[in-house]
Amino acid sequence: MAKILVIHGPNLNLLGTREVDIYGKVTIEDINNSLREKAKGKGVDIEIMQSNHEGEIVDTIGKAKDNKINAILMNPAAYTHTSVAIRDAVAACGIPTVEVHLSNIYSREEFRHTSLIAPVAKGQVSGFGKTSYLLGFEAAIELAKK
Ligand code: DQA
Repeated sequence: MAKILVIHGPNLNLLGTREVDIYGKVTIEDINNSLREKAKGKGVDIEIMQSNHEGEIVDTIGKAKDNKINAILMNPAAYTHTSVAIRDAVAACGIPTVEVHLSNIYSREEFRHTSLIAPVAKGQVSGFGKTSYLLGFEAAIELAKK
């Protein structure tokens, strides 16, 4: 069975109360439950982690091949714009990766317009709230089954 790793980056544990004007009231548990439901319907395995620590995310990506992960769905959150280490981990692991964002990073502050992850990702979905994750998950499933 194809296995997809979902990574939520820093502060996404606070969804539901964090800047609700931007991110809405959806919680990380809401998102995870929808992803688990979709995974069940599509017959894929799903592993989910959230971390506020760059190194922990790098370690998880580094172990993904050994853990038989076929695709990664990731919201790198603030690390999108800063982390060469996460970008290099994605490039090194050779596992197709889909980048997602709840908000449209291109319609926000200028520092959010650059994603260091996008050039090493298969693609990006940005701006649709929880739907970004669900659309990105569809793409990850396709990539995982290839
Ligand atoms: C985010 C956008 C990032 O710029 C921000 O740092 C986040 C969340 C999003 O999902 O819209 O933490 O990745």
